Amino acid sequence: MNMKNKQYLVTGAAIDSEIGFAICQKLDAEGAKLILVGRREEPLQQTKAQLGNEHYVIPFDLSQLDDINSLAMTIVEKYGPIDGFIHNASFQGYSPLRNISPKQIRDYFDINFSAAVMLTAAFSRQKHFVPGASFVYIGSAAGQRGLKARTLYAASKAALTSLTKSAALELASKSIRVNCVAPAIVKGAKSNKQFLTIGEQQTSMLLASHPLGLSEPEDVANCVYFLLSDMSNKITGSTLAVDGGFLAG
Ligand SMILES: NC(=O)c1ccc[n+]([C@@H]2O[C@H](COP(=O)([O-])OP(=O)(O)OC[C@H]3O[C@@H](n4cnc5c(N)ncnc54)[C@H](OP(=O)(O)O)[C@@H]3O)[C@@H](O)[C@H]2O)c1
Repeated sequence: MNMKNKQYLVTGAAIDSEIGFAICQKLDAEGAKLILVGRREEPLQQTKAQLGNEHYVIPFDLSQLDDINSLAMTIVEKYGPIDGFIHNASFQGYSPLRNISPKQIRDYFDINFSAAVMLTAAFSRQKHFVPGASFVYIGSAAGQRGLKARTLYAASKAALTSLTKSAALELASKSIRVNCVAPAIVKGAKSNKQFLTIGEQQTSMLLASHPLGLSEPEDVANCVYFLLSDMSNKITGSTLAVDGGFLAG
């Protein structure tokens, strides 16, 4: 599908978000205009500088949940209604139960889940979206399995899968599709750092649990592209794993 004349908002679009940047590259290559959102302006400008089409940078902290409606209104006033968004920004880390605090719970859920709800509500208002729009959340395989010391991350991503289903039902009458992409471990600086922390033996076990091998950021971006495009026009409410077979086991 040619994405010329389509415009998408991408959260977590900084150049150092491996998946976010790969999504921007893919959509740019397909001709889309992008609205790049994240807290730090400079890495968003760096993403923009690497892309070819006309794109816009909007520094915004998604933990400011009360301001997401105004953000959407400003975007629509300036650039017109959107053809969809990709909520890729996230709060990641470890949260062993012995140390958990209410603030930590808010940190994970505000960005990973509540911001997704607010974006969905804000952009599904009349005149804020183009009919046929597609909303995509980047979830995680962690949301489909139990994971030691990652209760908050996993639960916040599981909540996205639930949101995907309810929002898909509610927004079908507006011709908006809602889906989620759930990667397992993705190749890159972050996973390399994780392997160093857990050591050789656990790394080998982790790698063995991805029978097709670890995904590249581009594999996630291709799935996002599919879910935005008309090729998936009858897919809504789904969470698609891009996990090298991790969840099959
Ligand atoms: N990497 C993996 O192996 C993996 C596996 C499974 C799922 N995922 C999911 O895939 C997505 C991308 O992962 P990644 O590892 O590429 O991400 P990342 O490098 O951690 O990037 C996260 C992005 O979110 C933005 N962000 C964080 N807090 C924000 C806030 N309060 N407001 C606005 N933007 C905020 C950050 O930019 P600023 O700091 O400038 O705000 C950054 O660009 C995430 O949803 C992650 O959970 C990743």
